[in-house]
Amino acid sequence: MKSPAELEAMRAAGALVAQVLTAVTELARPGVSTGELDALAEQIIRGAGAVPSFLGYHGYPASICASVNEQIVHGIPSTAQVLADGDLVSVDCGAILDGWHGDAAVTIPVGAVSAADAALSAACEAALHAGIAAVQPGGRLSDISHAVQTACEDAARRDGVAYGIVQEYGGHGIGTSMHMDPFLPNYGDPGQGPRLKPGMALAVEPMLTAGDPETLELADGWTVVTADGGRAVHWEHTVAITEDGPRVLTLPA
Ligand code: MF3
Ligand code: CO
Repeated sequence: MKSPAELEAMRAAGALVAQVLTAVTELARPGVSTGELDALAEQIIRGAGAVPSFLGYHGYPASICASVNEQIVHGIPSTAQVLADGDLVSVDCGAILDGWHGDAAVTIPVGAVSAADAALSAACEAALHAGIAAVQPGGRLSDISHAVQTACEDAARRDGVAYGIVQEYGGHGIGTSMHMDPFLPNYGDPGQGPRLKPGMALAVEPMLTAGDPETLELADGWTVVTADGGRAVHWEHTVAITEDGPRVLTLPA
């Protein structure tokens, strides 16, 4: 549970993460490498007197995750990975400012992406916002899971496709560490799990696939890809529970 002053400190960390994602989104275009996106992110984070939370996390070697096309999450940025027209790159970023964490992710279209890819990303972003809307005092954790799942299913029906919801990864509590209890699945029945109370903070982060949601981890020990090679997307915000409902901490200042 965080005090109002502590949530303000988390808001500052979140605003920095948002600033990084805005800058990375502007830089991401055909011909730019994911290594360059990482360098920009680290420069902005350190320039603000903050620390990249991903760097060194269980040995992770970069300040962002950059997951391209069939990569779902935890893609390692590299100067060898040059973005091409039509790619989808999911960028996940975390920063620690004054001891408090912010964590957020966006999926960025590189150049002109297909209508199907744009719809997949829009479905995931809508699911994120549906999940955020369920971050209500007095509710239960799985209300968020259920809202995410329902939004994915609604989008799939509307788009006439069968999106997959990744099951092995999900949201989490966040505060003085990046990953805190509870784990927050992106599917499930409502009305279960811990009661949501003002002062809690959660990272809500749906991951959707164009096809089957089964995942594989590459031999680098990090990169998670779709088993069927289909495309994947990832959207995330850090959200606080207030008396008045959800407060998104990772919006631009
Ligand atoms: N930020 C990711 C998440 O949203 C976790 C990244 S782990 C790292 O929970 F090691 F890659 F940093
Ligand atoms: Co997260």
